[in-house]
Amino acid sequence: MTKEYFSHKHLLGIQGLHPPEIQEILDLSDRYVEQNRGGDKKQSSLRGRTVINLFYESSTRTRTSFELAGKRLGADVINMQVSASSVNKGETLIDTAMTLNAMHADILCVRHPDSGAVKLLSQKVNCAVINGGDGSHEHPTQALLDALTIRRRKGRLGGLTVAICGDVLHSRVARSNIYLLNTMGARVRLVAPRTLLPAQAQRLGVEVFHDMREGLADCDVVMMLRVQNERMKGSFIPSIREYFRFFGLDYEKLACAKPDAMVMHPGPMNRGVEIDSDLADDVERSVIREQVEMGVAVRMACFDILARNLAGA
Ligand code: NCD
Repeated sequence: MTKEYFSHKHLLGIQGLHPPEIQEILDLSDRYVEQNRGGDKKQSSLRGRTVINLFYESSTRTRTSFELAGKRLGADVINMQVSASSVNKGETLIDTAMTLNAMHADILCVRHPDSGAVKLLSQKVNCAVINGGDGSHEHPTQALLDALTIRRRKGRLGGLTVAICGDVLHSRVARSNIYLLNTMGARVRLVAPRTLLPAQAQRLGVEVFHDMREGLADCDVVMMLRVQNERMKGSFIPSIREYFRFFGLDYEKLACAKPDAMVMHPGPMNRGVEIDSDLADDVERSVIREQVEMGVAVRMACFDILARNLAGA
């Protein structure tokens, strides 16, 4: 039986969520977009709640928007300063979780370089946990904000063809988007060099292309991914120049997609590596700044729903 409402304690990933649960988050996010555009942005649905940001990896958009989302809903928000060098894997993570637990945090937003670490932490605490990105596994709030951006522009998700292009291998953004878009009935294509695709990518329920012009043909949405040099051990691409020539998105390659195809990128961008700088700034084609706006609204909706599900709410 499919669930009607999002009744989970944590938001650890998109995998396993049902369409009505995703829809509920997106519908509520739409309401917050309107509110955030108005004069009075402050709400009180999280008054008395404590949100803690625990980021073991660098972040601009995700951490800031979790903070802003919590504050706009009236929560007390704390940003823990975690330096990557002090991370001692397993034991330290659990110790940290126990410490935060003792302080009665209500929602913990966690980013960690190891896939599965956020889930492990969620099993040790009483509070709700949101995955802000774990290794190359999942980044659920990014996929939700991407879906919101697409749905507001195109009016739907089902039936659209979305090309996810570039460093899929290292991308938690790609994985969460594949799960979400497949669940909501979109067609997903992966366009990447063989070295930047996970083994047996087809098993993810996608079509795989190694040529941008073929992969982009008749697409509604072109989602570019950052080349994640920091996760690469060894050589995955011959040179930046060559990568841009074959896999960088420019106007000429974009012309293969539908005339109204929208261009997305989760940020941070490597201009001139995976995307042409002028195209990234072209508001007629690129919705990259809109994605950032949607990020705040989606995180407000997630907080709201998880707070509702907290014991004693
Ligand atoms: C992404 C991430 O950290 O996974 N950024 C983000 O959250 N907007 C993508 C990336 O780092 O390339």
